[in-house]
Amino acid sequence: MLVVLAICAYLFGAIPTGLLLTRFFGKEDIRKVGSGNIGATNVYRVAGRKLGLITLVGDCLKGVLPVILALQVFELTDTPLALVALAAFVGHCFPVYLGFKGGKGVATALGIFLVLSPLAVLTAMVVFVLFLWRWRYISLASIAAAITIAPAVYLTTASLPIFTVTLVVATIVIWRHKGNIERLRNGTENRFSF
Ligand code: G3P
Repeated sequence: MLVVLAICAYLFGAIPTGLLLTRFFGKEDIRKVGSGNIGATNVYRVAGRKLGLITLVGDCLKGVLPVILALQVFELTDTPLALVALAAFVGHCFPVYLGFKGGKGVATALGIFLVLSPLAVLTAMVVFVLFLWRWRYISLASIAAAITIAPAVYLTTASLPIFTVTLVVATIVIWRHKGNIERLRNGTENRFSF
């Protein structure tokens, strides 16, 4: 049953919310404009605040719903639960529907950790907001939050499987930001404007 749940979580996580929304509203292909990312930040940048926020909620729900379902309905224990969470996250980053070229995983990671450890999310959110307020780079704030989430999950869940998956998720999030890191280093990264 775990395999079926993980496949369903992956296929659900792989739904490209931002791309579908922007297409539906007749906007440009977000993969070809701005940062080229399909996530909420680029949708916000390219298609405006409303679609950006809906993408954020949609991508976050792709993490929340499979993990809640796995926990509440299927009553999975930590190891299978962590694997279902990872499957949803991997779906967003490497979606089968888009030739495995997906997003950076921040919003979907937010969704899975909102269920796995809300306290860790709160800690990472504080770091995110502080970094965003100080430097105004969503990418830098996301990387800082990704670095924070692993120790925060370790301290709040005391679960080795969930901590291990957190390390994997955080590493993928940081790795997916390699283009942003390059731009931050040479001073060409876009600053976020409200
Ligand atoms: O969640 C992605 C964000 O951290 C950066 O997005 O579009 O600026 O590469 P973007």
